[in-house]
Amino acid sequence: TKNMQIKHFLQFNDFSREEFEYLFERTRWIKQEFKQYRRYWPLEDRTLAMIFDKHSTRTRLSFEAGMHQLGGAAIYLSTRDTQLGRGEPVEDAARVISRMVDIVMIRTHEHDIVRRFAAHSRVPVINGLTDEYHPCQIIGDIFTFIEHHGSITGKTVAWIGDSNNVCNTWLQAAEVFDFNVHVSTPRGYEVEPERAGLYGTSHYEEFADPHEAVKGADLVTTDVWTSMGFEAETEERKRDFADFRVDAEMMSHTRKDALFMHCLPAHRGEEVAAEVIDGPQSVVWDEAENRLHTQKALIEYLLLGRLDNA
Ligand code: CP
Ligand code: NVA
Repeated sequence: TKNMQIKHFLQFNDFSREEFEYLFERTRWIKQEFKQYRRYWPLEDRTLAMIFDKHSTRTRLSFEAGMHQLGGAAIYLSTRDTQLGRGEPVEDAARVISRMVDIVMIRTHEHDIVRRFAAHSRVPVINGLTDEYHPCQIIGDIFTFIEHHGSITGKTVAWIGDSNNVCNTWLQAAEVFDFNVHVSTPRGYEVEPERAGLYGTSHYEEFADPHEAVKGADLVTTDVWTSMGFEAETEERKRDFADFRVDAEMMSHTRKDALFMHCLPAHRGEEVAAEVIDGPQSVVWDEAENRLHTQKALIEYLLLGRLDNA
């Protein structure tokens, strides 16, 4: 069918390493043009629909501003005030929305919702975060790592805290780019390999002690203890995660030049100490900014395919 030819970005490993290398090359150019205030409008008359079933600052802003900067338009749709929130089937919404716009981004709960939407969409669909994955975040994160430290291949990333959507996506990225992830979670919050979309991977190792996990790391990263949708567990998680705060003492076990990343929003004094997120190893603001540039390259690629570098 027609749908099978459309390229979507639903999980990190939907793209090959070569495709990411191309995206990074485009990102560098797009970022440079943007910084020089040069107009680049390849997507005039194109429209992005953004469906949000969860809160967002960075994802909404970067997609909306990014689409505008490429000469197109973006429409924000919340499940709170569309028929999606009143039980209209995802398949019907996909058929209708994809007849009116050129590309769709969705942030929702179960990954299956995004998969079903994409299966009935006439246009490319981007995962803007599900309970299981956050692929756009990790494109920005790896681009940021490369800007600071060069290739990530062969490096070690330490993931401390909850084995959530962002962690699962790092694990997929480790397969694609051939680097190692040291994961340290409290007992009961370990990686679920099937949920992470991982089958027989050799690219990650689990550590009971976070201090062991960060030894020799080139990058330490963490995320909120309670992700969106899990708010009922907040107090229990605060107790269970108390030993998994990334602080200066923990960072002292990494490589000297190790970076710190956090997808944000952050909770100082919970998953990360202020001294770390506001300290010299932290690249969280570059990381947030690069969501904009990498996603512009992603949208350009999904809509226009490969271009010769301008
Ligand atoms: N990191 C991230 O996706 O942030 P938002 O939830 O603000 O979009
Ligand atoms: N793991 C977090 C990421 C937010 C960007 C969440 O799902 O809430």
